[in-house]
Amino acid sequence: MSGSYDNLNAQNHNLYSEPNHNGSGFITPATRRKRTSNWIKFGIPVLLIVIVAAVVGGVVGSRKKNNNSSSSAVASSPQQSAASASAAAGAAASAKLALGKYATATNSEFMMPIYPSTTDSGAFSSPTFIPAAQSKTAWPTDPFQPSNPDVLTVRKDRPLLIAPAYKWAALPALIANDPYLQSWNATIFKNATEYAALPAVVYKLDGDSGILDNSRAVKQRVKAFAYAYRMTNDTSWVDLAWREIKNAAGNGTVTFGPSEDRWNSGHFLDVAEMSAAYGIAYDWLYDVWTPSQKSMIITTLLQYGLQPGVTQITTSAGWWTGSAQTPINGNWNCVCNGGMTMASLAILNDDTSGVAKQLLQFTVGNAKTNCAQAVSTDGSWAETANYWYFGTTGHAEMAASLLSATGSHYGLLDVNTNFYKTGDFHMYITGSTSLFNYGDHGPNKYSTTANSMLFYGDFYNQPQYALFQRDQYDSAEPWSMFWYNPTIAGAFWDGKPLDHVFDNGVDQWASMRSTWTDINGLYVAMKAGMLVNHQTHNDLDVGDFVLDALGTRWAGELGSADYLSPGYFTDAAQDGARWKYYRKMTEGQNTILINQANQDLTAAPTIKFDTSNTTQGPTTVNVVPDDSTAFFTTDMTSAYFDATSVKRGIRLLNGRKQVLLQDEVTASQSVMWRMHTNATVTIDASGTSATLALDGQTLKVAMLSPPDGAQFKTGPAVRFSTDPTPPEADQENPGVTVLMITLPAGTYMLQVLFNPQWPGSVNYVTPPTVAIDSWSLRSHDSSS
Ligand SMILES: *[C@@H]1O[C@H](CO)[C@@H](O)[C@H](O)[C@H]1NC(C)=O
Ligand SMILES: *[C@@H]1O[C@H](CO)[C@@H](O)[C@H](O)[C@H]1NC(C)=O
Ligand SMILES: *[C@@H]1O[C@H](CO)[C@@H](O)[C@H](O)[C@H]1NC(C)=O
Ligand SMILES: *[C@@H]1O[C@H](CO)[C@@H](O)[C@H](O)[C@H]1NC(C)=O
Ligand SMILES: *[C@@H]1O[C@H](CO)[C@@H](O)[C@H](O)[C@H]1NC(C)=O
Ligand SMILES: *[C@@H]1O[C@H](CO)[C@@H](O)[C@H](O)[C@H]1NC(C)=O
Repeated sequence: MSGSYDNLNAQNHNLYSEPNHNGSGFITPATRRKRTSNWIKFGIPVLLIVIVAAVVGGVVGSRKKNNNSSSSAVASSPQQSAASASAAAGAAASAKLALGKYATATNSEFMMPIYPSTTDSGAFSSPTFIPAAQSKTAWPTDPFQPSNPDVLTVRKDRPLLIAPAYKWAALPALIANDPYLQSWNATIFKNATEYAALPAVVYKLDGDSGILDNSRAVKQRVKAFAYAYRMTNDTSWVDLAWREIKNAAGNGTVTFGPSEDRWNSGHFLDVAEMSAAYGIAYDWLYDVWTPSQKSMIITTLLQYGLQPGVTQITTSAGWWTGSAQTPINGNWNCVCNGGMTMASLAILNDDTSGVAKQLLQFTVGNAKTNCAQAVSTDGSWAETANYWYFGTTGHAEMAASLLSATGSHYGLLDVNTNFYKTGDFHMYITGSTSLFNYGDHGPNKYSTTANSMLFYGDFYNQPQYALFQRDQYDSAEPWSMFWYNPTIAGAFWDGKPLDHVFDNGVDQWASMRSTWTDINGLYVAMKAGMLVNHQTHNDLDVGDFVLDALGTRWAGELGSADYLSPGYFTDAAQDGARWKYYRKMTEGQNTILINQANQDLTAAPTIKFDTSNTTQGPTTVNVVPDDSTAFFTTDMTSAYFDATSVKRGIRLLNGRKQVLLQDEVTASQSVMWRMHTNATVTIDASGTSATLALDGQTLKVAMLSPPDGAQFKTGPAVRFSTDPTPPEADQENPGVTVLMITLPAGTYMLQVLFNPQWPGSVNYVTPPTVAIDSWSLRSHDSSS
């Protein structure tokens, strides 16, 4: 049986394609060709050079010398040791370059990295940071080490933000020795060149979402232009940065917003992101701005950014600053405090108005009691998987800027002792194809990325975070150049458990998979948790799940509805407008629906989870034992109005090749099982099994011991005609089919078995019937 799983992975060889190391762009499927990764081609010998040379450095070198002089007992001189350590470090660096990036492509259908396929257990090693002394690729120590860091005292030299001068000085040599830095540097230049060919960002007010896209686009461009200038001394990049700055001040060739409030302070995220862009431009290009440009940047930043910021923190306008009763544990607080902080640090010493000082005395403390608390005890982000990007980008930028400018993060990174776990949240919520993207997906990302993983990986000594992120498609941007610690080595997956439960009562979700390194692998995630305390970005979705297999998503999410629709964020009481939009309603989720009604906002489900604790090893072809399994169950009765018991469980079967979803319901009203899919669904004559076709792959779905009258049906992803009418029409969900089972009031056990049709000869099993309360790791071993 395990042999057939091997076949599946072996087939993936032909998916590999040439990565683009010279930065000339992402490859299209049409240009893909077979490529043997250098990791496979060179195999163990080169790997040994890397590991041995880097880790034991000088010892190897001196032994060699001693052997040559046939006096192996004689210790080498300190000079000899130093010289050979350096030689070994050099050998390690060149081996690293020869091997290149792990991922052979990041342009798969879902933009997930594709890893070279190997069963060679010597090819990769566990995540680690190689001690700086044994590495040719370490950042130097910051010469600025204030004994009493003060948020109002910044270092004397510039830049202040993100990367001080000593880091810029070290960067070219690090780039020369590291394949990731090399490719990111090239991509940033390529992107900067693309931005240069565009007109300055055009003002476009997008309803209540304001000019957030504009602000983030300006920030993204300014970062790239400023980086390109600092790496080349070519002032044409400065002119391009000035073009954006001038344009966003309303001084360009076209108008930019109303003169009294150009950056749209009614939606303060827009102001915060634009202020950050101004701060970066001011600080990174400080040495080349003319005195008049500097003064213009400060005038405009104060007028449209920081003075409105003071209004926010001193009046009720700044709702995002939260209160003891209503903390704002989410992206708004991180982004707003982050932007105000970066801009204020940048101009602090030149600001005669006192505004920058006033903001800095506020933002750090406020972010510690709000933003930093958006990570729960289990590492989950309070909002959603996508909002994690916005929140952590704001948090990491703010912490990194404080650290670089003043020498301290003032507790922003450790006031929440569980904050470091949020890297695991991101890794486990990333499925084989895409995120377990429950709730709202958020606006366009532009300057927002997952590169906080590089920063957190280094700061919290969690090398696997950085190793995970460095192969992702969004890793190439200026922050990465400084947040990445190039002494990192190993593979994030080596030793990484396949499953994890996030068990804080607010979140309650579990992640289970067959592999970390194959986009065709199995991934299942399910949530329970509370329906409140997510900054109104959640859906009514206790029991919701996603399923990935064979390189595609079979059970998926619909995402955000229209943010501009009336009441979307403001009317979230049980009968509120938010819960009348299909994508937010319980019927728009992959869960049980009772009486065609929404779940109860006061839901407080309980959960149970167990796992065989299977970890992936160093190889990228992960073969798990047949008894490797995990399950997640929830008693979600409290989420329903017309039921005395609703339990749901999901588990992996047959060495993680099959999935069982089981529901046990006693309801006084109608019961409906619903799953949203992009697949084409064919239901067989009996009505109790269905074949789903998607992306050239097949998933078979079957009810086991179906209750009388239980039949699969399909329907469109639209509201029932009897539902209360929302203030605005729903978005359409083109291509989405709802697979459903409808039953009258009663007591039922529904067992639905998912069998992805893996290549090769797989022996599919039929599990025994076991009540959810009796589930254990071994309860389904008698599968036949
Ligand atoms: C960064 O990339 C640019 C553009 O490809 C190149 O000219 C430059 O040499 C690179 N920098 C380093 C330090 O390699
Ligand atoms: C850089 O350009 C690539 C396409 O070449 C794009 O996918 C990516 O989003 C850009 N990254 C940034 C940070 O602009
Ligand atoms: C840019 O100018 C600075 C200061 O003169 C100098 O130290 C640096 O080497 C120059 N960089 C490049 C890429 O020419
Ligand atoms: C834009 O023009 C106004 C009015 O002349 C001036 O006060 C401001 O400093 C200018 N800002 C920029 C960035 O050009
Ligand atoms: C359908 O496919 C799109 C694009 O990959 C994805 O974003 C969406 O979540 C899928 N929908 C479902 C219900 O799986
Ligand atoms: C898995 O690990 C947990 C935590 O260390 C432990 O309590 C549990 O007994 C382990 N289970 C198995 C099946 O090894």
